[in-house]
Amino acid sequence: MAEAWVLNGPNLGRLGRRQPEIYGSTTYQELVGLCEGWGRGLGLEVEVRQTNHEGLLLDWLNEAADRAVPVVLNAAAWTHYSYAVYDACAQLTAPLVEVHLSDPARRPEAFRHTSLVTPHAAAVVAGHGVEGYRLALEALVAR
Ligand code: DQA
Repeated sequence: MAEAWVLNGPNLGRLGRRQPEIYGSTTYQELVGLCEGWGRGLGLEVEVRQTNHEGLLLDWLNEAADRAVPVVLNAAAWTHYSYAVYDACAQLTAPLVEVHLSDPARRPEAFRHTSLVTPHAAAVVAGHGVEGYRLALEALVAR
């Protein structure tokens, strides 16, 4: 079965408890199970990871580049200011799909209106909550 990684950045491990009015009530553990199931349905072996440590995300992206693993990435707040994440995404060799639970472009904070991931993404899915991860996996398969 083809492999794909779903990589999540800071604070997403608290999904379900973190500002549910914005991010929904599905827990991170539930999201993991959903992504694995959606992946199986698409013929993908999906591995879901989350970290609050930027260097670890960079290590994962570097490994994805070396091994040509397709990636669905929710870089969370790093999306908006991390040039290291920008550089790591730039060297990916397999498709990258950017996902966000909320739609950062429609949120009031101006800092959310910039994405350093989008320039390298084959597709962007935003504002569809947890369901967006299913759409992102489908977009990955379509590439
Ligand atoms: C987010 C949007 C980001 O602006 C925010 O910093 C997050 C989550 C989302 O999934 O909606 O942590 O990436």
